[in-house]
Amino acid sequence: MAHLLITGHSRGLGAALTHQLLNEGHCVLGISRHPIRELHQFKSSAFQELCADLGQNAGIASTLESKLFEDFFNNVEQAILINNAGLLGPIGRAGQINGADITQSIAVNVAAPLALTNRFLAITGRCKDRRIAHLSSGAARTPYPGWNIYCASKAALDHHARCISLEGPEYCRIESIAPGVIDTQMQAEIRACSLEQFPMRQKFDQLKESGSLAPSESVARKLIQHLFSQSFGMSPCTDLREI
Ligand SMILES: NC(=O)c1ccc[n+]([C@@H]2O[C@H](COP(=O)([O-])OP(=O)(O)OC[C@H]3O[C@@H](n4cnc5c(N)ncnc54)[C@H](OP(=O)(O)O)[C@@H]3O)[C@@H](O)[C@H]2O)c1
Repeated sequence: MAHLLITGHSRGLGAALTHQLLNEGHCVLGISRHPIRELHQFKSSAFQELCADLGQNAGIASTLESKLFEDFFNNVEQAILINNAGLLGPIGRAGQINGADITQSIAVNVAAPLALTNRFLAITGRCKDRRIAHLSSGAARTPYPGWNIYCASKAALDHHARCISLEGPEYCRIESIAPGVIDTQMQAEIRACSLEQFPMRQKFDQLKESGSLAPSESVARKLIQHLFSQSFGMSPCTDLREI
């Protein structure tokens, strides 16, 4: 039985991961702004939640200092951190987006996962199987006009995973994984953009119309299979569609 901290567990891919992992008998600590009531059917020893706004420095700090975070990983056989929470916005060309939205996005997409990783490694030093998964994106590796903040933030996660891999913390594997295009609220946000904000929007309209968006449940299944495999962390940056 593994202990997994999952950020952004309240919907989308994070919710699908949380449901499947709990049904497989693992223990999950979820961090989002919104709680998921229906998961309280699971025993409190299996599922716990921390409501925090990772878009604010104060929310990141309270999470890092939380006793629950430390206690959750105390004396566990397998400790896993899934940095899944992410924001696509602000969408738009540089010079036309709101500065405060940039700060919030970088907090959720970069500051929180880097700080959580640092704390996770500090408190799990005695665990003999530690795994860290960053949810990256194809946008980390291919530039998209209108997504300058999102692309840069996901590229930061990729490079962070490469660096930690070189640092080689004991009994630790890390991987920054692009999950492919998933039918979640984030894709709905893309389709709600104007062409002025995101000139490539029609490509994503077509993916939805042609039924090419992957359901979050099947992406979660594949991700979990890979996460527990021997090959996890062999390469610091991967694409789930190629695994
Ligand atoms: N969907 C795709 O096609 C796609 C493609 C490539 C990569 N990804 C990546 O995969 C991950 C999951 O994406 P998704 O599509 O499942 O996204 P989503 O449906 O928009 O869900 C995002 C999750 O992040 C949490 N979150 C957002 N802002 C937060 C904040 N300030 N503090 C705490 N939690 C916050 C949300 O919870 P609350 O609102 O409750 O806080 C929610 O649980 C993301 O990192 C995304 O970049 C997605």
